[in-house]
Amino acid sequence: MPPEPSESSLSEWAPATQLLNLGYDAALSEGSVKCPLFQTSTFAFRSALEGKRFFEIAYGICERRPDENVGLIYSRINNPNLEILEQRLCVHDGAERSAVFSSGMAAIATTILTFVKPGDVIAYTDPLYGGSDHLMTKVLPSFGIQTVPIAADASLPSMRGILHEVNQNGRLRMMLVESPANPTNVLVDICGLALLLSSMGNGDSRPKLAVDNTLLGPVWQQPLRHGADLVLYSLTKYVGGHSDVIAGACLGSARDIAEVSALRTFLGSILDPHSAWLLMRSLETLELRMERSAANARAVADSLRSHPKVREVLYLGHLDPESTAGRLYATQCSGAGSTFSVRLVGGEPQAFQFLDALRVMRLAVSLGGTESLASHPASMTHAGVDAESKRIYGISDNLVRLSIGIEDPCDLVADVRQALDSVAG
Ligand SMILES: Cc1ncc(COP(=O)(O)O)c(C=O)c1O
Repeated sequence: MPPEPSESSLSEWAPATQLLNLGYDAALSEGSVKCPLFQTSTFAFRSALEGKRFFEIAYGICERRPDENVGLIYSRINNPNLEILEQRLCVHDGAERSAVFSSGMAAIATTILTFVKPGDVIAYTDPLYGGSDHLMTKVLPSFGIQTVPIAADASLPSMRGILHEVNQNGRLRMMLVESPANPTNVLVDICGLALLLSSMGNGDSRPKLAVDNTLLGPVWQQPLRHGADLVLYSLTKYVGGHSDVIAGACLGSARDIAEVSALRTFLGSILDPHSAWLLMRSLETLELRMERSAANARAVADSLRSHPKVREVLYLGHLDPESTAGRLYATQCSGAGSTFSVRLVGGEPQAFQFLDALRVMRLAVSLGGTESLASHPASMTHAGVDAESKRIYGISDNLVRLSIGIEDPCDLVADVRQALDSVAG
């Protein structure tokens, strides 16, 4: 059997190639071309001394020697499927390390609780996905953490003013950004915010910038390359891509992810091996799916643009290149992705008529799957957001969110057109 490619030769390959090979040695698994599923809760130690050593390293009791691997212990701490997946997830984003979780919310909550303690402050851009909004407005304040919303489309000088104000006692620990924001696709200047936060302290006193990159996914945007400290994903969406897995991830420096992983062990928010195995399958087709769904999304967005029953299409590919958002898009993103919202003429009745009339697209929440989905953010994913925030951030009753899949584009365009035809004029 030819030798497995070394990790250093692998890193010379393009991401699409690395995602099929990185981290897996077939010789260790009977020559199996695909990484098997390690569906086990616990791993046998070769000796008691080995078990003791593995725990010393896993619990940070002793430093790991440079040539020493973290031994396999128990699937709430580590597992081969998770470790290979975590290596592969770093490829597109250029991260040193990643940690995978049982959901996107588990990744977000565990990451925040790692770095933000009672008495601290976390700022966040508004709007956020409804679940993250609930975490910010209801859950974290109940743990004595102050949460400060900042409009996602606020200028950098006004963000600077707010951040300096809330950091008067030096307790601002993190800023959570969703860019593009769910469901309005508003972009936030990651590089500008990273520079701003880096001027607010050194080392551990500097507030961290965490970016939820779920809506575009790792192919079209890599926040670490623009200065973010941490990237968060609901892997349930584009990375999973088949609407059959709930999972999340946090990516960043080896040091930060070591801290996040340590808390993950004790909160028990780690991903299970079977879901990790499914995600490794999904990563192999990530680029193919992203390209096809992005091309389909453009076809659908273009067809909606000038329709008389459509007021506005919030599609990144339609941004005026000369506008502030258009310039930001050009520097920060390499593609428009395939999730966008549409404001119909009318209100909730018209939005519901449209949703109920769709035949190819399924009426369901979530996004990023091979099948196209349509939903009504105001009454579904963002139902818990307070009415005033919905008004300010444009989560209106006539807003419909579309996640475009990989079906034939002609069928998708025909579907939205026939659904619009059925909406009362
Ligand atoms: C932007 C964003 N972040 C996080 C999440 C939460 O992910 P999960 O459902 O995997 O917990 C979602 C879910 O829709 C999302 O849209």
